[in-house]
Amino acid sequence: MSKRVLVSGGAGFIGSHVTVELIQAGYEVVVADDMSNCDLTCFEGVKKITGREDIPFVKMNFCDLDAVNRLFDGYRIDAVIHFAAFKAVGESVAEPIKYYTNNLSSFLNVLEAARTHGGCNVLFSSSATVYGEPEKLPVTEASPRQSATSPYGNTKQICEDILRDSVKAYPGLKGIALRYFNPIGAHPSALIGELPRGVPNNLVPFITQTAIGKRECLSIFGNDYPTEDGTCLRDYIDIVDLAKAHVYAVRRMLDGKMEQDYEIFNIGTGRPVSVLELVTTFEKVNHLKLNYKFAPRRAGDVTAIWADPTLANQKLGWKAERTVEETLSAAWAWEKRLAERAHE
Ligand code: UFG
Repeated sequence: MSKRVLVSGGAGFIGSHVTVELIQAGYEVVVADDMSNCDLTCFEGVKKITGREDIPFVKMNFCDLDAVNRLFDGYRIDAVIHFAAFKAVGESVAEPIKYYTNNLSSFLNVLEAARTHGGCNVLFSSSATVYGEPEKLPVTEASPRQSATSPYGNTKQICEDILRDSVKAYPGLKGIALRYFNPIGAHPSALIGELPRGVPNNLVPFITQTAIGKRECLSIFGNDYPTEDGTCLRDYIDIVDLAKAHVYAVRRMLDGKMEQDYEIFNIGTGRPVSVLELVTTFEKVNHLKLNYKFAPRRAGDVTAIWADPTLANQKLGWKAERTVEETLSAAWAWEKRLAERAHE
Protein backbone atom coordinates (compact mmCIF):
# COMPACT_ATOMS: atom_id res chain seq x y z
CA MET A 1 0.00 0.00 0.00
CA SER A 2 1.36 3.45 -0.87
CA LYS A 3 2.28 5.68 2.00
CA ARG A 4 0.20 8.82 2.39
CA VAL A 5 1.64 12.29 2.88
CA LEU A 6 -0.38 15.25 4.12
CA VAL A 7 0.79 18.52 2.57
CA SER A 8 -0.44 21.48 4.62
CA GLY A 9 -0.39 24.63 2.54
CA GLY A 10 -0.22 22.34 -0.48
CA ALA A 11 -1.91 24.74 -2.89
CA GLY A 12 0.85 27.34 -2.61
CA PHE A 13 4.10 27.87 -4.50
CA ILE A 14 6.34 25.33 -2.76
CA GLY A 15 3.51 23.00 -1.70
CA SER A 16 2.24 22.52 -5.24
CA HIS A 17 5.67 21.62 -6.59
CA VAL A 18 6.21 19.22 -3.70
CA THR A 19 2.82 17.59 -4.32
CA VAL A 20 3.79 16.93 -7.95
CA GLU A 21 7.08 15.31 -6.99
CA LEU A 22 5.49 13.18 -4.25
CA ILE A 23 2.83 11.86 -6.62
CA GLN A 24 5.39 11.20 -9.32
CA ALA A 25 7.44 9.26 -6.75
CA GLY A 26 4.43 7.03 -6.00
CA TYR A 27 3.08 8.55 -2.78
CA GLU A 28 -0.56 9.22 -2.02
CA VAL A 29 -1.05 12.86 -1.12
CA VAL A 30 -3.73 14.81 0.72
CA VAL A 31 -3.55 18.52 0.04
CA ALA A 32 -4.94 20.88 2.66
CA ASP A 33 -4.94 24.65 2.44
CA ASP A 34 -7.00 27.55 3.75
CA MET A 35 -6.48 29.43 0.47
CA SER A 36 -5.62 32.60 2.39
CA ASN A 37 -2.64 33.32 0.15
CA CYS A 38 -3.43 31.52 -3.10
CA ASP A 39 -6.19 30.48 -5.46
CA LEU A 40 -6.78 27.12 -7.13
CA THR A 41 -4.48 27.84 -10.11
CA CYS A 42 -1.60 25.76 -8.81
CA PHE A 43 -3.74 22.92 -7.54
CA GLU A 44 -5.38 22.67 -10.98
CA GLY A 45 -1.89 22.70 -12.50
CA VAL A 46 -0.80 19.87 -10.20
CA LYS A 47 -3.74 17.77 -11.41
CA LYS A 48 -2.81 18.43 -15.04
CA ILE A 49 0.89 17.65 -14.60
CA THR A 50 0.27 14.42 -12.70
CA GLY A 51 -2.82 13.39 -14.68
CA ARG A 52 -4.54 12.82 -11.35
CA GLU A 53 -7.98 14.37 -11.06
CA ASP A 54 -8.64 12.58 -7.79
CA ILE A 55 -6.06 14.18 -5.47
CA PRO A 56 -7.90 14.77 -2.19
CA PHE A 57 -8.16 18.47 -1.35
CA VAL A 58 -9.38 19.80 2.00
CA LYS A 59 -10.01 23.51 2.49
CA MET A 60 -9.23 24.10 6.12
CA ASN A 61 -7.34 26.27 8.55
CA PHE A 62 -4.64 24.55 10.57
CA CYS A 63 -5.24 26.91 13.49
CA ASP A 64 -8.48 24.96 14.05
CA LEU A 65 -7.42 21.90 16.06
CA ASP A 66 -10.80 20.18 15.61
CA ALA A 67 -10.41 20.45 11.85
CA VAL A 68 -6.86 19.07 11.99
CA ASN A 69 -8.04 16.18 14.16
CA ARG A 70 -10.88 15.45 11.73
CA LEU A 71 -8.35 15.31 8.92
CA PHE A 72 -6.23 12.79 10.82
CA ASP A 73 -9.40 10.82 11.70
CA GLY A 74 -10.37 10.69 8.04
CA TYR A 75 -7.04 9.65 6.56
CA ARG A 76 -4.23 7.40 7.70
CA ILE A 77 -1.33 9.88 7.52
CA ASP A 78 2.22 8.50 7.37
CA ALA A 79 4.00 11.84 7.06
CA VAL A 80 3.10 15.52 7.16
CA ILE A 81 4.91 18.25 5.30
CA HIS A 82 3.99 21.52 6.93
CA PHE A 83 3.95 24.64 4.76
CA ALA A 84 0.82 26.34 6.04
CA ALA A 85 2.25 29.62 7.34
CA PHE A 86 2.41 33.33 6.60
CA LYS A 87 5.69 34.36 4.97
CA ALA A 88 5.94 38.09 4.35
CA VAL A 89 8.84 39.44 6.37
CA GLY A 90 7.68 43.09 6.33
CA GLU A 91 4.11 42.25 7.25
CA SER A 92 5.36 40.15 10.15
CA VAL A 93 7.14 43.22 11.56
CA ALA A 94 3.93 45.25 11.26
CA GLU A 95 1.64 42.48 12.56
CA PRO A 96 3.66 40.22 14.86
CA ILE A 97 0.67 38.82 16.74
CA LYS A 98 -0.93 37.69 13.50
CA TYR A 99 2.29 35.90 12.55
CA TYR A 100 2.97 34.29 15.91
CA THR A 101 -0.64 33.17 16.27
CA ASN A 102 -0.93 31.67 12.83
CA ASN A 103 2.51 30.17 12.32
CA LEU A 104 2.87 28.71 15.79
CA SER A 105 -0.64 27.47 16.44
CA SER A 106 -0.99 25.79 13.05
CA PHE A 107 2.24 23.88 13.63
CA LEU A 108 1.35 23.00 17.23
CA ASN A 109 -1.97 21.64 16.01
CA VAL A 110 -0.26 19.46 13.42
CA LEU A 111 2.03 18.04 16.09
CA GLU A 112 -0.82 17.55 18.55
CA ALA A 113 -2.91 15.68 16.00
CA ALA A 114 0.09 13.65 14.89
CA ARG A 115 0.90 12.74 18.48
CA THR A 116 -2.64 11.73 19.41
CA HIS A 117 -3.06 9.70 16.23
CA GLY A 118 -0.26 7.30 17.02
CA GLY A 119 2.74 9.34 15.96
CA CYS A 120 3.85 10.51 12.59
CA ASN A 121 6.77 11.79 10.57
CA VAL A 122 6.79 15.57 10.40
CA LEU A 123 8.76 17.62 7.91
CA PHE A 124 8.95 21.31 8.70
CA SER A 125 9.72 23.92 6.06
CA SER A 126 12.34 26.10 7.67
CA SER A 127 14.54 28.78 6.20
CA ALA A 128 18.12 29.93 5.90
CA THR A 129 16.87 33.06 7.62
CA VAL A 130 17.65 31.22 10.91
CA TYR A 131 21.38 31.78 10.23
CA GLY A 132 21.03 35.58 10.12
CA GLU A 133 24.23 37.28 8.94
CA PRO A 134 26.65 34.35 9.08
CA GLU A 135 30.20 34.81 10.30
CA LYS A 136 31.53 31.94 8.20
CA LEU A 137 30.45 30.98 4.69
CA PRO A 138 29.10 28.70 3.41
CA VAL A 139 26.80 27.79 6.29
CA THR A 140 26.52 24.23 7.51
CA GLU A 141 23.73 22.91 9.69
CA ALA A 142 26.13 23.31 12.62
CA SER A 143 26.54 27.05 11.96
CA PRO A 144 25.02 28.99 14.83
CA ARG A 145 21.53 30.37 14.51
CA GLN A 146 21.35 34.11 15.10
CA SER A 147 18.61 36.14 16.75
CA ALA A 148 15.87 36.56 14.21
CA THR A 149 15.44 40.01 12.72
CA SER A 150 11.72 39.60 12.08
CA PRO A 151 8.78 37.85 13.74
CA TYR A 152 8.53 35.72 10.58
CA GLY A 153 12.12 34.53 11.02
CA ASN A 154 11.50 34.00 14.70
CA THR A 155 8.53 31.72 13.98
CA LYS A 156 10.87 29.54 11.90
CA GLN A 157 13.30 29.25 14.80
CA ILE A 158 10.57 28.61 17.35
CA CYS A 159 8.92 25.95 15.17
CA GLU A 160 12.27 24.20 14.74
CA ASP A 161 12.61 24.16 18.53
CA ILE A 162 9.06 22.93 19.02
CA LEU A 163 9.72 20.06 16.63
CA ARG A 164 13.03 19.19 18.32
CA ASP A 165 11.44 19.14 21.77
CA SER A 166 8.35 17.24 20.61
CA VAL A 167 10.22 14.36 18.99
CA LYS A 168 12.22 14.06 22.20
CA ALA A 169 9.08 13.82 24.32
CA TYR A 170 6.63 11.83 22.23
CA PRO A 171 7.51 8.35 21.04
CA GLY A 172 6.50 7.73 17.46
CA LEU A 173 7.10 11.31 16.42
CA LYS A 174 10.04 11.99 14.13
CA GLY A 175 11.02 15.27 12.55
CA ILE A 176 13.08 16.81 9.81
CA ALA A 177 13.57 20.54 9.27
CA LEU A 178 14.64 21.58 5.80
CA ARG A 179 16.31 24.98 5.74
CA TYR A 180 15.59 26.46 2.34
CA PHE A 181 17.86 29.03 0.81
CA ASN A 182 16.19 31.15 -1.92
CA PRO A 183 13.60 29.06 -3.80
CA ILE A 184 12.96 30.43 -7.28
CA GLY A 185 11.63 29.36 -10.68
CA ALA A 186 8.64 27.33 -11.78
CA HIS A 187 7.75 23.89 -13.04
CA PRO A 188 9.09 23.29 -16.61
CA SER A 189 5.49 22.67 -17.75
CA ALA A 190 4.68 26.30 -16.82
CA LEU A 191 1.51 24.94 -15.21
CA ILE A 192 2.53 25.88 -11.68
CA GLY A 193 4.69 28.66 -10.27
CA GLU A 194 4.79 31.59 -7.91
CA LEU A 195 1.65 33.75 -7.65
CA PRO A 196 2.49 36.64 -5.36
CA ARG A 197 -0.39 38.79 -4.16
CA GLY A 198 0.20 42.49 -4.77
CA VAL A 199 3.69 43.87 -5.15
CA PRO A 200 6.22 41.02 -4.87
CA ASN A 201 8.71 41.16 -2.03
CA ASN A 202 11.07 38.62 -3.54
CA LEU A 203 13.54 39.24 -6.30
CA VAL A 204 12.55 36.82 -9.05
CA PRO A 205 8.80 37.55 -9.16
CA PHE A 206 9.72 41.24 -9.24
CA ILE A 207 12.07 40.59 -12.15
CA THR A 208 9.51 38.61 -14.17
CA GLN A 209 6.75 41.13 -13.47
CA THR A 210 9.01 43.94 -14.61
CA ALA A 211 9.91 42.04 -17.76
CA ILE A 212 6.24 41.46 -18.59
CA GLY A 213 5.41 45.13 -17.97
CA LYS A 214 3.40 44.77 -14.76
CA ARG A 215 6.08 46.75 -12.87
CA GLU A 216 7.91 49.68 -14.31
CA CYS A 217 11.37 49.17 -12.92
CA LEU A 218 13.23 46.75 -10.68
CA SER A 219 15.11 48.34 -7.80
CA ILE A 220 18.30 46.54 -6.90
CA PHE A 221 18.58 47.15 -3.20
CA GLY A 222 22.14 48.23 -2.56
CA ASN A 223 25.25 48.19 -4.76
CA ASP A 224 27.67 49.16 -2.04
CA TYR A 225 27.90 45.81 -0.24
CA PRO A 226 31.38 44.35 0.28
CA THR A 227 30.95 41.86 -2.59
CA GLU A 228 32.57 41.77 -6.02
CA ASP A 229 29.85 43.76 -7.81
CA GLY A 230 28.48 45.46 -4.68
CA THR A 231 25.16 43.56 -4.64
CA CYS A 232 24.06 40.87 -2.17
CA LEU A 233 24.92 37.21 -2.60
CA ARG A 234 22.32 34.47 -2.24
CA ASP A 235 21.95 30.77 -2.95
CA TYR A 236 19.07 30.50 -5.43
CA ILE A 237 17.61 27.01 -5.43
CA ASP A 238 15.38 25.80 -8.24
CA ILE A 239 11.85 25.07 -7.02
CA VAL A 240 11.74 21.60 -8.64
CA ASP A 241 15.10 20.68 -7.11
CA LEU A 242 13.81 21.96 -3.77
CA ALA A 243 10.60 19.95 -4.15
CA LYS A 244 12.59 16.80 -4.85
CA ALA A 245 14.53 17.26 -1.62
CA HIS A 246 11.21 16.76 0.21
CA VAL A 247 10.68 13.42 -1.49
CA TYR A 248 14.14 12.26 -0.38
CA ALA A 249 13.49 13.49 3.15
CA VAL A 250 10.09 11.82 3.35
CA ARG A 251 11.60 8.59 2.05
CA ARG A 252 14.33 8.76 4.67
CA MET A 253 11.71 9.10 7.40
CA LEU A 254 9.33 6.45 6.06
CA ASP A 255 12.07 3.94 5.31
CA GLY A 256 13.39 4.23 8.87
CA LYS A 257 16.74 5.62 7.71
CA MET A 258 16.97 8.54 10.12
CA GLU A 259 20.04 8.54 12.32
CA GLN A 260 18.41 10.79 14.90
CA ASP A 261 14.75 11.43 15.63
CA TYR A 262 15.21 15.08 14.65
CA GLU A 263 17.41 16.06 11.74
CA ILE A 264 18.15 19.30 9.92
CA PHE A 265 19.30 19.75 6.32
CA ASN A 266 20.31 22.78 4.29
CA ILE A 267 18.61 22.82 0.92
CA GLY A 268 20.68 24.94 -1.41
CA THR A 269 23.08 24.68 -4.32
CA GLY A 270 26.26 25.78 -2.59
CA ARG A 271 26.77 28.45 -5.29
CA PRO A 272 26.56 32.13 -4.40
CA VAL A 273 25.00 34.34 -7.06
CA SER A 274 24.79 38.14 -6.80
CA VAL A 275 21.59 40.06 -7.41
CA LEU A 276 23.18 41.75 -10.41
CA GLU A 277 24.36 38.43 -11.81
CA LEU A 278 20.87 37.01 -11.47
CA VAL A 279 19.41 40.00 -13.31
CA THR A 280 21.92 39.83 -16.16
CA THR A 281 21.53 36.05 -16.45
CA PHE A 282 17.77 36.52 -16.67
CA GLU A 283 18.28 39.03 -19.49
CA LYS A 284 20.68 36.75 -21.31
CA VAL A 285 18.72 33.48 -21.19
CA ASN A 286 15.44 35.13 -22.05
CA HIS A 287 16.84 37.53 -24.67
CA LEU A 288 15.43 40.70 -23.22
CA LYS A 289 16.44 43.90 -21.45
CA LEU A 290 15.20 44.57 -17.98
CA ASN A 291 14.50 48.03 -16.70
CA TYR A 292 16.39 48.25 -13.43
CA LYS A 293 18.09 50.82 -11.22
CA PHE A 294 20.22 50.78 -8.14
CA ALA A 295 18.41 51.82 -5.00
CA PRO A 296 19.36 52.11 -1.32
CA ARG A 297 19.87 48.98 0.73
CA ARG A 298 16.75 47.25 2.05
CA ALA A 299 16.53 47.09 5.84
CA GLY A 300 17.22 43.65 7.27
CA ASP A 301 19.08 42.22 4.24
CA VAL A 302 22.22 40.22 4.95
CA THR A 303 25.21 40.79 2.70
CA ALA A 304 25.86 37.20 1.74
CA ILE A 305 24.57 33.75 2.52
CA TRP A 306 24.92 30.45 0.76
CA ALA A 307 24.65 26.83 1.77
CA ASP A 308 27.02 24.04 2.34
CA PRO A 309 24.64 21.32 1.09
CA THR A 310 27.03 18.41 1.80
CA LEU A 311 24.87 16.88 4.52
CA ALA A 312 21.78 16.74 2.26
CA ASN A 313 23.94 15.41 -0.58
CA GLN A 314 25.32 12.62 1.57
CA LYS A 315 22.46 11.70 3.88
CA LEU A 316 19.45 12.36 1.67
CA GLY A 317 21.19 11.42 -1.57
CA TRP A 318 19.79 14.68 -2.98
CA LYS A 319 21.63 17.23 -5.05
CA ALA A 320 20.53 20.42 -6.81
CA GLU A 321 20.65 19.67 -10.52
CA ARG A 322 19.11 22.49 -12.49
CA THR A 323 21.22 25.42 -13.63
CA VAL A 324 20.28 28.97 -12.79
CA GLU A 325 19.75 29.52 -16.54
CA GLU A 326 17.15 26.73 -16.70
CA THR A 327 15.48 28.08 -13.58
CA LEU A 328 15.26 31.64 -14.85
CA SER A 329 13.92 30.51 -18.18
CA ALA A 330 11.20 28.49 -16.38
CA ALA A 331 10.34 31.52 -14.24
CA TRP A 332 9.89 33.61 -17.38
CA ALA A 333 7.80 30.93 -19.13
CA TRP A 334 5.49 30.89 -16.11
CA GLU A 335 5.09 34.69 -16.08
CA LYS A 336 4.28 34.66 -19.80
CA ARG A 337 1.74 31.91 -19.28
CA LEU A 338 0.07 33.94 -16.53
CA ALA A 339 -0.16 36.89 -18.92
CA GLU A 340 -1.71 34.67 -21.62
CA ARG A 341 -4.26 33.36 -19.15
CA ALA A 342 -5.17 36.89 -18.14
CA HIS A 343 -5.95 37.68 -21.80
CA GLU A 344 -7.98 34.51 -22.41
N1 UFG B 1 16.11 42.30 -4.01
C1 UFG B 1 16.23 43.41 -4.80
N2 UFG B 1 15.11 43.96 -5.34
C2 UFG B 1 13.86 43.44 -5.11
C3 UFG B 1 13.75 42.29 -4.30
C4 UFG B 1 14.90 41.76 -3.75
O1 UFG B 1 17.34 43.92 -5.04
O2 UFG B 1 12.88 43.99 -5.61
C5 UFG B 1 17.34 41.71 -3.47
C6 UFG B 1 17.34 41.70 -1.95
O3 UFG B 1 17.81 42.91 -1.46
C7 UFG B 1 18.25 40.51 -1.68
C8 UFG B 1 18.01 39.57 -2.85
O4 UFG B 1 17.41 40.37 -3.86
O5 UFG B 1 19.58 40.93 -1.72
C9 UFG B 1 17.07 38.43 -2.53
O6 UFG B 1 15.90 38.96 -1.96
P1 UFG B 1 14.58 38.12 -1.73
O7 UFG B 1 13.57 39.01 -1.08
O8 UFG B 1 14.18 37.44 -2.99
O9 UFG B 1 15.08 36.99 -0.75
P2 UFG B 1 15.74 37.12 0.70
O10 UFG B 1 17.12 36.60 0.59
O11 UFG B 1 15.52 38.43 1.33
O12 UFG B 1 14.74 36.15 1.42
C10 UFG B 1 15.06 35.01 2.05
C11 UFG B 1 13.92 34.00 1.87
C12 UFG B 1 12.69 34.50 2.57
C13 UFG B 1 13.04 34.88 3.99
C14 UFG B 1 14.12 35.92 4.02
C15 UFG B 1 14.43 36.35 5.41
O13 UFG B 1 13.61 33.81 0.50
O14 UFG B 1 11.71 33.48 2.59
O15 UFG B 1 15.26 35.39 3.38
O16 UFG B 1 15.34 37.36 5.44
F1 UFG B 1 11.98 35.39 4.59
